[in-house]
Amino acid sequence: MAENLSIQGNSKAELYQNLLPQVLALIDGESDLIAAMGNACAAMHHTFGWLWTGFYIVKNDELVLGPFQGPIACTRIQKGRGVCGSAWQQATTLVVPDVDAFAGHIACSSLARSEIVLPLIDRDGVVLAVLDVDSAELATFDEVDAKYLGEICQALVRLF
Ligand code: SME
Repeated sequence: MAENLSIQGNSKAELYQNLLPQVLALIDGESDLIAAMGNACAAMHHTFGWLWTGFYIVKNDELVLGPFQGPIACTRIQKGRGVCGSAWQQATTLVVPDVDAFAGHIACSSLARSEIVLPLIDRDGVVLAVLDVDSAELATFDEVDAKYLGEICQALVRLF
């Protein structure tokens, strides 16, 4: 893999342009949130070979582990804690190029080096869940990931 920019000769944007219609079709064809999240994170995870890809869902004012791919992870995260809890509290996407430089990062796996967390936000501005993607390499994620992963998150909001 050349500097995280390509996998088997395809640029990151090309991989997303191929992946996005497939994931949106999976989501559009399903009415159950957990089923759609499960297939969405499987498709994303296996396209890019990330370390961990999954959702945390807001339940009773905490984030609770939802569908994911990868090693076992912490099951509950409080608002404001770690990257996930911060993205929830701030209702914004957080791109972390080096998790060791993020104060309060929750190390579910010692292999994690960088991550991106995107909130799923309803039309009233309420955060319903977050998508958390972890990489074993530094600086894996950028605005390209934020754009395409954001479209996937937005498509899932209607299933809540
Ligand atoms: N990286 C997250 C914790 C969740 S796991 O890594 C799956 C965080 O700091 O919010």
